[in-house]
Amino acid sequence: MKPKILVTDATFPEIIDYLSHSFEVEHNQADQNYDESALIQKLQDKAGVFAYPTRRFAGPLFAACPQLKAMCNMAVGYNNIDVAAATAAGIMVTNTPDVLNETTADFGWTLMMAAARRISESEHFLRGGRWKRWRFDDFLGVDVHGSTLGIIGMGRIGQAIARRSMGFNMKVVYHNRSRLAPELEHAANNATYLTLEACLRAADHLILALPYSAQSHHLIGEAQLAMMKSTATLVNIARGGIIDDAALITALKAGVIAAAGIDVFENEPAFNPDFLSLTNVVLTTHIGSASTSTRLAMAYCAADNLIAAMAGKRPANLLNPESFQA
Ligand code: GLV
Repeated sequence: MKPKILVTDATFPEIIDYLSHSFEVEHNQADQNYDESALIQKLQDKAGVFAYPTRRFAGPLFAACPQLKAMCNMAVGYNNIDVAAATAAGIMVTNTPDVLNETTADFGWTLMMAAARRISESEHFLRGGRWKRWRFDDFLGVDVHGSTLGIIGMGRIGQAIARRSMGFNMKVVYHNRSRLAPELEHAANNATYLTLEACLRAADHLILALPYSAQSHHLIGEAQLAMMKSTATLVNIARGGIIDDAALITALKAGVIAAAGIDVFENEPAFNPDFLSLTNVVLTTHIGSASTSTRLAMAYCAADNLIAAMAGKRPANLLNPESFQA
């Protein structure tokens, strides 16, 4: 008999077919938004779950689903899962690193350039029928080429962001939990390691690419925004909650920094409505990894992790090796 699994949310049909070779699959192609008790009920007879990062998995759910063996997140970030509680419950947890590095780095650049060059403002102006004649000072922005790019979180995505700056003749400064090895700094456009404060002060454009955790909660708040240049651009492609959104809104209103590009929000898909009154912020809907080929690669990666885990093999992207018994 095939093991039973749940796919928590709608996904590519070919992924359901792929999983069906190995599992009895309960899918959610209707994309229903189960609450926690419905999710627990769906998971009652399941050994594995193909999970989306929009769903929270923590101790009470694990306690209510003692037969669960593996939880495979279709995301590189896994702050939606209490990994310590999963480990205590003997559940393997996996994520989907690497396959999204380049696409997400592209998107960090997209938001940085859009914010620095005021793309959304100009487009809204045009769409609103307000463009009557060309002016010398229409939507003057800040140059990206030749500037200093700051990166907070210099993991694989941060390094891919840094590499892109070579063609733009930029200097790269970064802050990370630990300094990179010299060869990695060299490959990241000779990136210079700085303290968080020095990085905030030096950057013309600052991109956040670090994981969310209790330590990174509100890492960028009023005090940190005040350290940035008034011409600076701030981009968050990482997770909501790393920036204090209310403080960012105040800073954007007051011209403490020039512009922002924000793809992730505290409590998304809800967001602070005051963002909507600002023209100097480009807002997107958590689409950093959203190219067709990358999202498909992420889905296959999560599926392969689940297939390995259910077959008693160590999944390639196991986050809690303590949970694996060979
Ligand atoms: C998306 O946000 C991811 O973590 O992969």
